[in-house]
Amino acid sequence: MNKALRPAVIAGNWKMNKTRSEAKALLEELRPLCKDAGCQVIVCVPFTDLETAVAACQGSNITVAAQNCHWAASGAFTGEISAGMLAEMGVRWTIVGHSERRQYFGETDETVNKRIRAALDQGLGVILCVGELLSQREAGITAEVVSLQTKAALQGVSAQEMGRIILAYEPVWAIGTGKTATAQQAGEVCGILRGVLEQLYGSQVAQAATIQYGGSMNAGNAAELLAQEDVDGGLIGGASLKAPDFAAIIQAASR
Ligand code: 13P
Repeated sequence: MNKALRPAVIAGNWKMNKTRSEAKALLEELRPLCKDAGCQVIVCVPFTDLETAVAACQGSNITVAAQNCHWAASGAFTGEISAGMLAEMGVRWTIVGHSERRQYFGETDETVNKRIRAALDQGLGVILCVGELLSQREAGITAEVVSLQTKAALQGVSAQEMGRIILAYEPVWAIGTGKTATAQQAGEVCGILRGVLEQLYGSQVAQAATIQYGGSMNAGNAAELLAQEDVDGGLIGGASLKAPDFAAIIQAASR
């Protein structure tokens, strides 16, 4: 399949930013700026902003996502939110396995896999994040690390369910550091990930899968990164918090 036939998806990961009133203001500013977007647009907002965001995006081409979900349907998991709770409020996607969850909150390949299973079972789509640490890149084991993370995360996920999985390559050393991977580095690892999907699911699923790059992507570097054959979109942190910046990236991804 040709890159042009794959869905291009630009997702903003707001992380722990924006109160409800700030979320509403940002989305109201963003809506008109991306109404003619030639790509899919997702905003991944804090749990407390979800209801506001779903309402603010009604009737627009912006889809709302959460940043995580728990694997159990309900129960004694203080501070956690289930996939079913998200689905019921009109949330369509969730990020799973972001490196900040892996680094600071004990997320493992096993819990990533369980969270993905729960999200898919509740009808959600998943943005699955993988990426190597700087020390792993320097040790020359980037391909092994991201391949293992991907295979572990996707255990038990069917080829059909892959239609609801977006893979996001986010090198940990490029997140929030202003140090973007070069377009060549991003393209190379996204290509490796497509190869892993081909191993697991065959060429048709691999060619149809959307693979994003994330890590200091901004209005200035988006076009070059997105021009890579295997980079189908972006997962954007800092630059998604300002409507004009995010809109410029959406513009760069539009076909
Ligand atoms: P930055 O764009 O702020 O580097 O964050 C990337 C990221 O982690 C998106 O999930």
